[in-house]
Amino acid sequence: MSRVTFDLPRALREGTILPIAPDDPELDTPALLVDLDIVDANIARMQVFADSEGFLLRPHAKSHKSLAIANRQLQARASGLCVATPSEAEVLGASSADDILVAYPLVGARKLERVAELALQGRLTLVSDSLNVTAGYRDFASRLGVTIPVLVEVDTGMNRAGVEPPLVPGIALDVARSPSLEFLGIMTHAGHAHDAPTADGIAIVARREAQVMGDVRADLERAGLVVPVVSAGSTLTSPFLRASDGITEIRPGTYVYNDLRTLGRFACEPENIAASMLATIVSINGTRITMDAGNKTLTSSRDAVYGYGRLAEREDVVVARMSEEHGVLAAPTHDHGYSVGDRVRILPIHVCVWMDLQSEVYGTRGGVVVETISVDGMRRSL
Ligand SMILES: Cc1ncc(COP(=O)(O)O)c(C=O)c1O
Repeated sequence: MSRVTFDLPRALREGTILPIAPDDPELDTPALLVDLDIVDANIARMQVFADSEGFLLRPHAKSHKSLAIANRQLQARASGLCVATPSEAEVLGASSADDILVAYPLVGARKLERVAELALQGRLTLVSDSLNVTAGYRDFASRLGVTIPVLVEVDTGMNRAGVEPPLVPGIALDVARSPSLEFLGIMTHAGHAHDAPTADGIAIVARREAQVMGDVRADLERAGLVVPVVSAGSTLTSPFLRASDGITEIRPGTYVYNDLRTLGRFACEPENIAASMLATIVSINGTRITMDAGNKTLTSSRDAVYGYGRLAEREDVVVARMSEEHGVLAAPTHDHGYSVGDRVRILPIHVCVWMDLQSEVYGTRGGVVVETISVDGMRRSL
């Protein structure tokens, strides 16, 4: 029996000649727009920061999951890429990156199989935080006949993965003594900076990240290990880190597009948010404005400052609630001026999860759609 398959539907009708205006009916909604002038500026600004501080910049590709955007970052002199899963690594392996860091402990043969090609090409770095994980890497690398560089993950307070600082030397020495592995250094992610409500609170988290990583580096050097890489720093914490802390590389991700979470944590300005979701108003009743983007598109990410998000063009029209395909906007008064059929743009709360749900996004310049950008790493959770 033959199996019928359906391609994912695309917002932009195939064959449409660009540029077109965002309200062109050839572009269906919901459609994710990214302002490429803002993207270019965000990439350049972070690269200038990294260069001026003496850091290598290894962007986390989870925020865009796109070869075209990764190559823009690499052309701007990013030193490599970071990914969260082996299947993202498979996809981003087609970029021009010399090295891909999978910043996640990989457990199980199926996970490791996916990164074998990159390991054979000498373009893979792995992360471990236990003797168990390291043992899996050792067997994998010796079966492939390669040496794989490994970073040991340090928990600097996020309490998600990573070892407590005093336990790092034990894990690191085990890596260093493994013939098929190379101890390359240490990494951390201080994602708990998002929980800090004030700018000072974020600075405190970041300075602790720097202090702990510097201390761990010194401990490892005292134990006789060379520590070529100390990788830390997100969009929120990177601005507070210094090379004199002993850090060699930063791995921000969200900065490429930015979102309301980043804005609410003082890490960008409103004009640095490149992504917005184009949606069509399908129903109005007084101050209730319902659009065709619900939580299947916008996700139910919620922020302490910005709730479920708001319109790009009007701060006072907020996303009040969502069901799967309906997003309900609340306007402050009845005379909001919107009609059924109008198009609106919603700003993201958490842009990385938006990207996971789109097969392609639409690049704009000067307010018109000029480019289709494939989200090659969409739904690569394995
Ligand atoms: C391990 C790791 N490194 C770097 C990042 C980048 O963080 P951000 O997107 O806040 O810059 C993340 C984000 O989740 C992460 O999990």
